[in-house]
Amino acid sequence: MGHRAAIVGAGHSRFGVLAEGPRALLRTALDGAVASVDRGLDRSAIARGYLATLGFGGWQIGNASAVLAEELGVPGLPTVRVENACASGGFALQEAVQAVASGHSELVVVAGLEKMTDVSSARRRYWLGVSGDTEWERQAGLTFAGVYGLLASAYLDRYRVSPEALAEVAVKNHENGALNPNAHFQKPIRREQALSSPKVADPLGLYDCCPVSDGAAAVVLASPELARRLTDSPVYVDGVGAASDRLAVQERDDLLGFSASRRAADAAFRAAGVRREGISVVEAHDCFTIAELLALEDLGFCGRGEAAALTLAGATRRTGRLPVNPDGGLKAKGHPIGATGVSQAYELFLQLRGAAGARQVPGARTALAHNVGGAGATAAVTIFSTG
Ligand code: COA
Repeated sequence: MGHRAAIVGAGHSRFGVLAEGPRALLRTALDGAVASVDRGLDRSAIARGYLATLGFGGWQIGNASAVLAEELGVPGLPTVRVENACASGGFALQEAVQAVASGHSELVVVAGLEKMTDVSSARRRYWLGVSGDTEWERQAGLTFAGVYGLLASAYLDRYRVSPEALAEVAVKNHENGALNPNAHFQKPIRREQALSSPKVADPLGLYDCCPVSDGAAAVVLASPELARRLTDSPVYVDGVGAASDRLAVQERDDLLGFSASRRAADAAFRAAGVRREGISVVEAHDCFTIAELLALEDLGFCGRGEAAALTLAGATRRTGRLPVNPDGGLKAKGHPIGATGVSQAYELFLQLRGAAGARQVPGARTALAHNVGGAGATAAVTIFSTG
């Protein structure tokens, strides 16, 4: 199958509880992305910009994408904001890929941003709350941790799985985060620590949850022809797939998996012409540890109910046969909502160029990013390769 577009540059701010405001975070990611283009980039050649953000920083509600043009320093650039809750970044990336693949734009930039920590917790709860089903779930007081807690209970019960499998996801992702200088948490944890952490939404404890983070990420995408002029090692986008599901979890046929992820994965694999066994490294949406187990099953890397055993056997560790979240994932790297999907593309850009330093997965040639909106209402899956 042909390459649809190529990433030629990528930038990333620190993720965490940061002093910088949203504009400064965005600028760091954009400057990093532009500076990383091997043969240099004339910013004025960028034809379009996409900004993924849920709440920006709580203050710029409308028209936030104009700030992207300002911080990139390209006056007049057409910009679009993409908002699909936690999947905003993955969907923005795919919109950008379509713009390039259709021949509409030869060079585009995609940035993702969230500034979550200097808004009041009431406002943050509001932003996250209105990204789930507001008719029933939020009226019943369910947070995202609450919804994923229900999914985790059902999973452990139906498949007779021990909470150790959830803890193993946390241990693995914290271990990977410790090797990522941009991660929110850079400290390994022990399995007992994860198992005994205070409960947030039973059976999920503190270490089963992603944190509340600030951060931004950006990538520059070009047509394959232009990409080869800009660098000797472009990272190609070979397949994109996206889908949605009923917004409210109680309206769905099945609690144990997201049909949006399954549909998105099938479409992306079909488009890329790759088999599951051909994937060298995965960025999976692990907003809660249970989400990583569900993701492995929804993406088709194992059967239903088998992700716990796969994880406990060490297959998803950096050194395992299917490395998942080598950058620490949402769990340890952090989850600044709009930035997450773009940050996944940043990580896979580094991994496929052999530039991921201490957390490099040796010989990575084909990679998959999986980005979920809320509790599975939307999902985007993107497959990348070295060509
Ligand atoms: N994992 C590990 N440690 C965490 C953590 C997490 N998710 N969240 C906070 N901590 C640590 C902090 O670093 C701090 O450590 P310190 O005392 O050594 O400085 C300590 O726990 C307390 O931090 P605090 O910010 O007061 O925690 P909190 O109780 O207010 O929040 C959660 C903890 C889990 C409730 C919060 O991180 C959360 O809501 N996460 C989910 C966010 C979410 O829903 N995103 C959308 C997903 S779909």
